[in-house]
Amino acid sequence: MKVAMIASEALPFAKSGGLADVVYSLSRALAAKKQNVSIIMPYYQQIENKQYDMNYVGEFDIKMSWRVQRARIYHAQVDRIDYYLVSNDYYFRREKMYGYMDDGERFAFFALAATEALTYLDAMPDIVHVHDWQAAIIPTLIHENYYNDARFAKIKTILTIHNPAFKGMLDRYFLTDFFNLPDYLYDMGKVRFEGMFSTLKSGIIYSDIITTVSPTHKEELLTREGGQGLDTVLEYRRLDFYGILNGIDYGEWNPLHDHYIVKRYNVSSLESAKHLNQADLLRCYNLHWYGGPVYGIVSRLTWQKGIDLVLDEARSILSKGGNFVLLGSGERELEQKFEVLRSQYPDTCGIYIGYNDQLAHKIYAGSDFFLMPSLFEPCGLSQMIAQRYGTLPIVRKTGGLADTIVPYDGRITSLGEDGIAFEDYNIGGLDYAIYRAEELYRNQENYYRVAKVAMKKNYSWSSSAGKYLKLYQKALSK
Ligand code: ADP
Ligand code: GLC
Repeated sequence: MKVAMIASEALPFAKSGGLADVVYSLSRALAAKKQNVSIIMPYYQQIENKQYDMNYVGEFDIKMSWRVQRARIYHAQVDRIDYYLVSNDYYFRREKMYGYMDDGERFAFFALAATEALTYLDAMPDIVHVHDWQAAIIPTLIHENYYNDARFAKIKTILTIHNPAFKGMLDRYFLTDFFNLPDYLYDMGKVRFEGMFSTLKSGIIYSDIITTVSPTHKEELLTREGGQGLDTVLEYRRLDFYGILNGIDYGEWNPLHDHYIVKRYNVSSLESAKHLNQADLLRCYNLHWYGGPVYGIVSRLTWQKGIDLVLDEARSILSKGGNFVLLGSGERELEQKFEVLRSQYPDTCGIYIGYNDQLAHKIYAGSDFFLMPSLFEPCGLSQMIAQRYGTLPIVRKTGGLADTIVPYDGRITSLGEDGIAFEDYNIGGLDYAIYRAEELYRNQENYYRVAKVAMKKNYSWSSSAGKYLKLYQKALSK
């Protein structure tokens, strides 16, 4: 089967969060199952620094309202995946991947160019698998604009929703001016969402299959409270809507072969390695240890991740003599609040604002607990990575976090407790979880018992990739 993934980011070229991990790891797992996989993504400025052979494939014009923009397509092969990068200096030769006033127009260009780029692949794909709002309009483009192009006739489409909070809300004129789509799609309600044009909604309507990244999040999206406004349209597509749990890349996330950490380890050497990796982590942040637990977090700093709760809780952790280390970037106001916290606890609180792969690995290996009290979490990779490193995640029971943690509630039972979880999104809920964490930490034997259960969990991609493959087959048989 020939599969073309289309997404705004993918490893090893560009990553801001889990989307990049998933597009790459899923593609690799599909390639390992003998499928022919391509990934189409933007050619961001930062990619120019990477050491990969890029070959020019071809170029064409895209009409963007009154302007004409040129799309150049480059090809690179990594791990048996064919990458096709869409280049345009005006839209993508910028410092950051996202966060510009014209992101709507930038990714409209990307979606239009990526659809056309399908004809530049070695062969037309059987499946076009689009991810999130930046690519979600593509099934609509295929149906409405390419319907009399025989090369597109057999293509089936799948949309994966990684983050329903980003709906691709655009002004109505985008439909006609940029996408060359009929205006009546808006009046018919096919692309209209809360008075605007939403690319994500259009993807839900037009894709053959829709998925999200965990079974629990799928159920949440079908409810009024957890649906983020999408419950009605998803209800309409219920029979074609699935939740498949993400995996993690065991090549990158393996404490036994991790070159970023000072002491590599497996389950039997966890205890001694934890102490050495923790000492190294604290040294990196220039911190002092007073004998309490070390809480770590690696995260985009945004409301989705429960960062307001983390800020409150960190203060309480620090006032009790624990350590708190953070790696993240995002909303400026949150970044500043963490800087203030560091100035108040300079020898126990470590804050690194930015993106840093090596430090992320050190936090996963060197912390005792990993904080992830998300307001919502479609899947979450960080909690699975933490478990893989024998670091206990403290999560709120939502989405993929609920699917991956068996919470310790004061007793170790045969259920296989492997983390700590709380229910209610408020500081009382997180306080309860921290109380459980401290209890576990005081009894080191119990702590390591639970940590070792966590380390042994299997989140390899193979079984999830098999589920996607079944859905592709289902789409093709429609
Ligand atoms: P999301 O995609 O919502 O951000 P996930 O848990 O699915 O959350 O994935 C986050 C991924 O991004 C993890 O691999 C995490 O280690 C990584 N990550 C997040 N922030 C940073 C950062 N500042 N530096 C390095 N890695 C980061
Ligand atoms: C999104 C979600 C996260 C998920 C990731 C990869 O960024 O916020 O929960 O793990 O996508 O699917």
